[in-house]
Amino acid sequence: MNSFWHNLPRPFFVLAPMEAVTDVVFRHVVSQAARPDVYFTEFTNATGWFRAGDKAIGGRLIKTDDENPIVAQLWGSDPEAMAALSQHCATLGYDGIDINMGCPDQSAIKGGGGAGMIRTPDVAHQMIAAAKTSGLPVSVKTRLGYTYVDEWQDWLRGLLEQDIAVLTVHLRTKKEMSKVPAHFELIPNIIKLRDEVAPQTLIVINGDVRDRAHGQEFAEKYGVDGVMIGRGVFTNPYAFSANAMPTRESLLSLLHTHLDYYDTYAHRTGRPFETLKRFFKIYVRDFECASELRDTLMHCNSTDEVRVALGALKI
Ligand SMILES: Cc1cc2nc3c(=O)[nH]c(=O)nc-3n(C[C@H](O)[C@H](O)[C@H](O)COP(=O)(O)O)c2cc1C
Repeated sequence: MNSFWHNLPRPFFVLAPMEAVTDVVFRHVVSQAARPDVYFTEFTNATGWFRAGDKAIGGRLIKTDDENPIVAQLWGSDPEAMAALSQHCATLGYDGIDINMGCPDQSAIKGGGGAGMIRTPDVAHQMIAAAKTSGLPVSVKTRLGYTYVDEWQDWLRGLLEQDIAVLTVHLRTKKEMSKVPAHFELIPNIIKLRDEVAPQTLIVINGDVRDRAHGQEFAEKYGVDGVMIGRGVFTNPYAFSANAMPTRESLLSLLHTHLDYYDTYAHRTGRPFETLKRFFKIYVRDFECASELRDTLMHCNSTDEVRVALGALKI
């Protein structure tokens, strides 16, 4: 199946799905700083939606037409629910479906979802088939294995045999969480496996990639098709640009942008003002009195109070 994935530049750069981070607001902030080639939503539980409808998922699937291409990341372990939500995402205008098979949180694993899928490959394969009923290209984001790094060979081979559009590999096991460095050394073996089993499937690597320049190195060295960046945007929200670290002025200006987008979408996402506070440290840091300012911002109760505090800043 030919899809948008095949019309992207090489390497292409993807904004990682991050729960309670990459909602419609923060995706717009990242876009304003430097656009990725592909956006992912934070993950959405298919079973919850299937049982209780939109109220079970809050504003997770809200998107706007200028965020494209955009992939809805879904998770769960019930193929019927996966099929239903994938089809719903197609009607919402999503460009692709990604299935999360790597989340290490107990809340996902206990029902067999997230990284729990690694232990039930047959169900994982059924979930892929279910998502394909949407008619959208289906990708999978996973880890090397559950407990041991060596699991990658059978686990990834099985996924590649399902004819998926893209396989994103977070280069760690579930057990390793994010506590050890990503296993970049395995990239050539993973590419070799892909070439053997499913040459049409694109390989995206993920884990510890700082920014575009860093990702470009892996693409040149190993020939990966794409690079996914998550936490890199916390260190540098301009991670998808080719430029060096941003200035204090540009970061503070981006914070204003974040406040504005929050105000635009808060009534739809339903996310309280408090949830904005986790982002302040991205923008307010590394200058004299930054920690005092952050402290002041953490005591604010509205976006307008934040704007007033920023306005009082003597630079
Ligand atoms: C706050 C946070 C939330 C995350 N939520 C998700 C998620 O919803 N779906 C997912 O597949 N991965 C999620 N991840 C994992 C990231 O997508 C990514 O795989 C991981 O952070 C490693 O990449 P990085 O080093 O570029 O951040 C999350 C990570 C963080 C830090």
